[in-house]
Amino acid sequence: MKEQNKKWSGRFDEPVDKLVQIFTASVDFDQRLALYDIQGSLAHAEMLKKQKIISATDFKKIDQGLKKISEQIMLGKFKWSVSDEDVHLNIEKKLTQLIGDAGKKLHTGRSRNDQIATDLRLFLRDITDEIILKITKLQKNIVSLAKKNINSYMPGLTHLQIAQPISFAHHMMAYYEMLDRDKNRFFDGRKRINQLPLGSAALAGTTYPIDRKFVAKKLKFEGISMNSLDAVSDRDFAIEFCFNASMMMTHLSRLSEELIMWMSPFFNFIDIADKFCTGSSIMPQKKNPDVPELIRGKVARVNGNLLSLLTLMKSQPLAYNKDNQEDKEPVLDSVDTVIGSLEIYADLVRHITVNKKQMLHYAEEGFSTATDLADYLVKKGVPFRTSHEIVANLVNHAVKNDLSLHEIELADLKKFSSVIQKDVYDFLTVEGSVAARSHIGGTSPKQVTKAISLAEIQLKKKLR
Ligand code: ARG
Repeated sequence: MKEQNKKWSGRFDEPVDKLVQIFTASVDFDQRLALYDIQGSLAHAEMLKKQKIISATDFKKIDQGLKKISEQIMLGKFKWSVSDEDVHLNIEKKLTQLIGDAGKKLHTGRSRNDQIATDLRLFLRDITDEIILKITKLQKNIVSLAKKNINSYMPGLTHLQIAQPISFAHHMMAYYEMLDRDKNRFFDGRKRINQLPLGSAALAGTTYPIDRKFVAKKLKFEGISMNSLDAVSDRDFAIEFCFNASMMMTHLSRLSEELIMWMSPFFNFIDIADKFCTGSSIMPQKKNPDVPELIRGKVARVNGNLLSLLTLMKSQPLAYNKDNQEDKEPVLDSVDTVIGSLEIYADLVRHITVNKKQMLHYAEEGFSTATDLADYLVKKGVPFRTSHEIVANLVNHAVKNDLSLHEIELADLKKFSSVIQKDVYDFLTVEGSVAARSHIGGTSPKQVTKAISLAEIQLKKKLR
């Protein structure tokens, strides 16, 4: 009798080469989908019973057997074996060992091709919900930080040069907005994840009288795939998930970059609590912002994962190809990176202290209220382009005389434009400049307070 070490070994005259076995196995990583695999199998088996494709007795055995396996997996007692290739075959083999022939009936009307697609969708659906909760938590902490800093002024930068004064709260709320788009993207992608592929079998469907709607309902899928070829080969949902992960991590990388910059002594705008920083093995004085640095760095891998998946699917002929087994590791890596980063970030933002004095100092530097002066002239009837030129000349004068705009005497200001009056000084302060930008989306304390209240209401609502 020849060695029977594979489900299909009757087809072959010799066992699979050991190296090939190891090379083609995926159980080392797809075992993470085990509980979803069982969830899918239970729904499939129940449908087979309902449709009288298997007997009620067999279903009962399958149900009990799978639940026992599920317990073993959760307790970490399940023995995974590379010789059984993947999560599906490992579980099926164990089931047959436990319940005998009934276990061999579970795979009726199904293929691993629609099975893996189902597992991955169930997994990503849960992960999406978890990510949405974690983004919400981070947003809440960002909003609390903003709330404490409505009157903390800082220089807003463009080209990394001092541009116009803003509040630190307004700056933080920009990240709230980015994360809100990220959250909505994940939520939107959930619809496309949440479609049942099971029933497509290998590629062409199955000859059994299956009830796909029943399975979809059991597994809480909101739709059913309409083309069996597409269903087993579609990985769009995973690519989209990876893009959403990349986009979100890109936002975190921008915040990280800013925190790193602000914490450097050249800025000294913020401090991050010691417990979130690390030291140097050689320079005793160092306190390094390793967490934001690492998050900035981790964008590289999530972007790599996205590109892996896109490249994996490019030019792939229909329907299922073994190539698709390569989708798991990038997806899992993006999942772990996003979840880990969100968790640590939510806590990190609670440990930021703001150096208001230093920020204000730089908000007052660099002629940050020059635009306010130009706007002042416009309001006195000067055309904007002309006022822009007048203020440019004034700044030139100030630079040469080492003065700030508000330090220039009224008589000297008047030399540049006769419309300038004493009230000009109200417009040249940082507070005045920030308060004056009081429209939807502006940096004034009034508007930022409104934006924060809106965010707080939004954060209490469920997405829909
Ligand atoms: N381990 C495989 C995967 O991840 C499961 C599907 C295998 N199907 C097959 N016909 N070999 O895609």
